[in-house]
Amino acid sequence: MSDTLALEAVAREAARRRTFAIIAHPDAGKTTLTEKLLLKGGAIQLAGAVRAKGNARRTRSDWMKIEQDRGISVATSVMTFERGGVIFNLLDTPGHEDFSEDTYRTLTAVDAAVMVLDAAKGIESQTRKLFEVCRLRDIPIVTFVNKMDREARDPFELIDEIEQTLALDAAPVAWPIGRASTFWGTYDILAKRLMPVDATEEEGIAVSGADDPRIAELVGEERATQLSEDILLAEAGLKSFDLAAFREGTLTPVYFGSALRDFGVGHLLDGMSRYAPPPGARASDARAVEPEEGKLTGFVFKVQANMDPNHRDRVAFVRLCSGRLTKGMRLRQVRTGKQVPVNAPLFFFAKERQVAEEAWPGDVVGIANHGTLRIGDTLTEGEDINFRGVPSFAPEILRHVRLEDPMLAKKLRTALDQLAEEGVVQIFRPLDGSAPIVGVVGELQLDVLASRLKVEYTVPAGFDATRWSTMRWISSPSGDRAAINRWADRNRSDTAEDHDGEYVALFGSDWRRKRAEEEYPELRFDAVREQS
Ligand code: G4P
Repeated sequence: MSDTLALEAVAREAARRRTFAIIAHPDAGKTTLTEKLLLKGGAIQLAGAVRAKGNARRTRSDWMKIEQDRGISVATSVMTFERGGVIFNLLDTPGHEDFSEDTYRTLTAVDAAVMVLDAAKGIESQTRKLFEVCRLRDIPIVTFVNKMDREARDPFELIDEIEQTLALDAAPVAWPIGRASTFWGTYDILAKRLMPVDATEEEGIAVSGADDPRIAELVGEERATQLSEDILLAEAGLKSFDLAAFREGTLTPVYFGSALRDFGVGHLLDGMSRYAPPPGARASDARAVEPEEGKLTGFVFKVQANMDPNHRDRVAFVRLCSGRLTKGMRLRQVRTGKQVPVNAPLFFFAKERQVAEEAWPGDVVGIANHGTLRIGDTLTEGEDINFRGVPSFAPEILRHVRLEDPMLAKKLRTALDQLAEEGVVQIFRPLDGSAPIVGVVGELQLDVLASRLKVEYTVPAGFDATRWSTMRWISSPSGDRAAINRWADRNRSDTAEDHDGEYVALFGSDWRRKRAEEEYPELRFDAVREQS
């Protein structure tokens, strides 16, 4: 391929990618919607796997068992499907809030998100948290109000709630006709057509507007009157869809439907094809990288180990930002300067692993490795740039690891290092040589940690309380390494090294943390660290 043709191919392939995640409060219908999206995209073989994965509604023990079943969890980490020439990469996020770190990182790898709301409940606590993470990066959000086949709240009230609680403009693009047991379907506001519940998307009925007299014949007098009144009111009082505002992340188009009844899902997907952005420029520490650049770049946002009992390896999930990935390429891991061979990049089209021939901006590929690749790593064809924004959060639960058999100390160290690289836990080693500390965001992570240590590494271990309640990464805005060392010398028993050798300060209370900030104005104590 000539250079020009190659560049054209990159631009063309990038333009038809939509890489997104679904954010939802547990039970809103994320799993059901995912299944239906995959069916629409022809990825039929996956639908069962998604259901098998289940999610946050499951009990703790169910979850643990599922978590150990690494195969399923990986098959559904990235789901790729095609519809109408558009390639969708749907990145899965764990449902349970104890795994929110994983979700936050995954959201750094998407270009858009679908926010699923339960029509009877509206915005719930987890929806709001996940939305805030999207807002940090101005990720465009498409809203799907689900469960319209059941008793639902008034659409005006729901739209108002989105606007008020999320401070986000909301513009309906579909409108429900009838409610609950009399739900007939929706009116497509932009294309002016009726979409009956049991018809396919192509079978929409074109009308001249919401006041078209034909509507009464189709949906009945009562529902037609309500629809025309609603639309009049909506036109007068609600925002209309504005592509630029959506792309900037300040306005969400709102769809109504029912995932369970497979209604409105095609409409949503059409909206994603049409309006959701393809991969865009991504900031690095040196410059913004455009997807259509010829040279490949990407970053690792997730690492998963021991996924398949037959391949005890680790897979780094890499989001490609520019260029074209081909089998056999050698990439530069910018953090270490090492060359990483990419002999068998993995696509996760189906339950089985497939070796991809090539991948493009927006795609996610799995690169098997033996622990070289870490979350936050940037990969390039040689250029020294680092993508920013894959975060680590200061854990809120800090525990000493108690080893049942001291002979296993070395094995424990290896296991903890590997699990830290996977992002399962964070690990801190106190400078005074005392036992390592693990840090997690949620209690359930500790259960998973104990279980994986025992099952995968045969290292039974427990956890003991520490005298610390919080930690912060120490940095010096002026780059004064001596100032950091001074802190460490004076506070040896309250300082530890993280997995990357960075110093962290351990605090017994918020009061102590604030004191430290006052006493050491030349230092910064950060609750979030960008990796690499
Ligand atoms: P989640 O992943 O967001 O947690 O939600 P999930 O899809 O598992 O859906 C939660 C429950 O809501 C499920 O019922 C599911 O069938 C139901 N549901 C999803 N979409 C719709 C919809 O459009 N309409 C109606 N009426 N229900 C919907 P469940 O009884 O808790 O589980 P299951 O036994 O059906 O699996």
